[in-house]
Amino acid sequence: MYRIVSALFLAENIKKIEIEAPRIAKKRKAGQFVMIRVGESGERIPLTIAGSDPEKGTITIIVQGMGKSTKELNSKEAGDTISDVVGPLGAPSHIEKFGTAVSVGGGVGTAIAYPTAVALKEAGNYVITINGARSKDLVILEKEMTAVSDEAYITTDDGSYGFHGFVTQKLQELIDSGRTIDYVLAIGPIPMMRAIAEVTRPYKIKTVVSLNPIMVDGTGMCGGCRVSVDNQIKFACVDGPEFDAHLVDFKNLSDRNKIYQTEEKQSSESWLHECKLLKTV
Ligand SMILES: Cc1cc2nc3c(=O)[nH]c(=O)nc-3n(C[C@H](O)[C@H](O)[C@H](O)COP(=O)(O)OP(=O)(O)OC[C@H]3O[C@@H](n4cnc5c(N)ncnc54)[C@H](O)[C@@H]3O)c2cc1C
Ligand code: FES
Repeated sequence: MYRIVSALFLAENIKKIEIEAPRIAKKRKAGQFVMIRVGESGERIPLTIAGSDPEKGTITIIVQGMGKSTKELNSKEAGDTISDVVGPLGAPSHIEKFGTAVSVGGGVGTAIAYPTAVALKEAGNYVITINGARSKDLVILEKEMTAVSDEAYITTDDGSYGFHGFVTQKLQELIDSGRTIDYVLAIGPIPMMRAIAEVTRPYKIKTVVSLNPIMVDGTGMCGGCRVSVDNQIKFACVDGPEFDAHLVDFKNLSDRNKIYQTEEKQSSESWLHECKLLKTV
């Protein structure tokens, strides 16, 4: 059992959770993730390690409640326990001094990009961050991202805060201004990552995305997370999750992620129903 040390909502439906996991806290590197099973009978889900404190023996994850497992996890409070935390898994982010590195995060993708933005800064890059949300109340980690950035931009779809528009528009604006950009990391919903790849492709800017296929074991055994990159089959849990954005088959990824939609909806609805019943007892 793994004890939750602290749990705090950063925005509606997005929770920051610190978990006691000393061995993982010592070993983890930017870009890696853990596989979490909330309860004994639950499924395993992958979540990026957003940070760690090796002295304290804790890791931090930032979770968006999407369906049954993430909503159940986000219902936990400090002092509660979760069944399994396995990791660190996945290949660490490739970090070097690229020059000017832009980190683009969409929604909870900002949390997934954060540890890599920190590592890029530590490697001596000039770091620009562009973090997008639908509206002001959904902006997360603004203080943390600003602290790690030489330049930081927030975009909102509805214009309620920062730049009015999408992260792609802000990135295009920076490119059009004549800035030299040597590296782009983009993490967020699949349509966002695909759109960023198309913004940078004509300029041949090295662009990396962190893919989010369905993962089951997280160790390269089940094949569940297979993705097509440069027309080759890769397993995102061991070969990734980061890949060259210009070589990823995003349509294949998007189609495969929809395979279990009916079951996911049923599972989420029955869990919410059980919660309501428990509250009435
Ligand atoms: C390497 C990696 C790192 C991730 N890091 C984060 C993170 O830091 N924070 C965060 O909020 N989310 C993260 N995700 C996404 C997170 O794993 C899914 O939102 C979660 O598994 C959804 O499960 P659910 O039961 O709550 O929702 P469901 O209703 O079961 O599913 C909702 C959607 O989530 C995806 N999904 C479902 N099951 C899985 C699974 N076993 N593996 C991967 N995707 C699944 C599917 O696209 C599905 O349509 C990450 C995904 C990957 C692959
Ligand atoms: S999750 Fe099973 S092979 Fe990657």
